[in-house]
Amino acid sequence: MHFGFIKDISAKHNRIIAGLDVGSTKVCAVVGEVHPLKKPGSGPDGGINVIGFGTAPSRGIKKGLVINIEQTVESIKGAVKSAEDASGVDIKAVNIGVTGSHIGYLSSQGVIAVKEKEIGPREVDMVIDAARAVAVPFDREILHVIPSEFIVNGQNGITDPRGMVGVRLEAKVQIITGAASSIQNLVKCCQKAGLEVLDVVFQPVATADAVLTRDEKELGAALIDIGGGTTDIALFQEGNIFHSAVLTIGGGSFTNDAAIGLRLPFQEAESIKRKYGCSMLSLSNREREMEVEYGDGKISRRIPGTHLIEILQPRAEELLGMIKSEISGRGFHKLLNSGVVLTGGAALMGGMDVMAENILELPVRIGSPMNIEGPADFNNPAYAAGAGLVIREAGESLTEQGLDGGNILNGIKSKMSCWFKL
Ligand SMILES: Nc1ncnc2c1ncn2[C@@H]1O[C@H](COP(=O)(O)OP(=O)(O)OP(=O)(O)O)[C@@H](O)[C@H]1O
Ligand SMILES: [Mg+2]
Repeated sequence: MHFGFIKDISAKHNRIIAGLDVGSTKVCAVVGEVHPLKKPGSGPDGGINVIGFGTAPSRGIKKGLVINIEQTVESIKGAVKSAEDASGVDIKAVNIGVTGSHIGYLSSQGVIAVKEKEIGPREVDMVIDAARAVAVPFDREILHVIPSEFIVNGQNGITDPRGMVGVRLEAKVQIITGAASSIQNLVKCCQKAGLEVLDVVFQPVATADAVLTRDEKELGAALIDIGGGTTDIALFQEGNIFHSAVLTIGGGSFTNDAAIGLRLPFQEAESIKRKYGCSMLSLSNREREMEVEYGDGKISRRIPGTHLIEILQPRAEELLGMIKSEISGRGFHKLLNSGVVLTGGAALMGGMDVMAENILELPVRIGSPMNIEGPADFNNPAYAAGAGLVIREAGESLTEQGLDGGNILNGIKSKMSCWFKL
């Protein structure tokens, strides 16, 4: 069985989509089933169900980048096998996300003469193609082309020119690019694991589809994905991403600090962090003791929980301070009318939302996958990225059918054949 090509989700059969989130801590494969959209008045709307997902510890990825091909391939195979077992689906093709400090933005503009006088979808495609035809350095690849505004016969500020009359159509776009080598290494790992890569997206753009509401994206929100190796900051307004940054601090930095501070092996530090960790001493139970194992579990000791939290708190303050400078240092906080959504596994650490509210001075909530039905244990911020890859691909079909009530400025993406010619 081959997946991901049945673009017409109103066809009789449900469409199956697989998303593969290759993180620094875990690789996560998510298999989603898209139910056909019913005709208006004929019953409930279509939806997306997670019919199975699987994870494997990530080896070979550091700070979002492939550092060892063989290990990454093994981790991908492990996650895919586990998702196949859970879903009963043979995964042949996946959608993947990329992130990392190599992501960059550039602005461009395109112009075309409109022959038919009335502007249609073909003219919109042509003007966006004209805008993307800028000289991108040979070592960069275009991930997304996001139109911010159209200009018809000199009249600017147009969000959707379809149906308008004019002879000259211009588009202003923002282009998101990534380092070709980083992207191609990840694609290569998937291919070596026996998978076809259907599409590569900038990961926060997909994650946002899983954790942000349409209103949040429109009114302005920050999506902060605190993973194991990196923290991705992505800012949205008017439906689209307008700024992003990647910090090379994540949950792994908290674990490292705990391992060094308490003289524990990384794995034991990781386990006590998940069990007893909290980012704020003032929110913790100062009487609470932790059961800690030393020497491969041979010795077990009870130590005060405050020893751990005294180590975690400064790291949380440092991370949130860096996030604040990225957002407020550039005045972007004024645009975030809907506040901040924290996601990623490390958002689960106790008190992160409270501390984030204090430091960022914005409303904060924790985001788990939405807009997708799944097993109870899928309802976890660590799966937001994998869920987003499935939702985004499913949403493409809806947009193609014009059924999402869609704003044309929202969600135009580029399928890139160049990834697949390795
Ligand atoms: N309950 C918990 N309390 C504290 N930290 C947690 C908890 N659960 C997971 N984490 C932390 O979340 C991090 C992993 O998050 P996630 O699975 O989102 O990372 P990833 O996607 O693999 O990495 P990245 O996005 O950086 O490439 C780890 O550092 C882990 O310790
Ligand atoms: Mg991640």
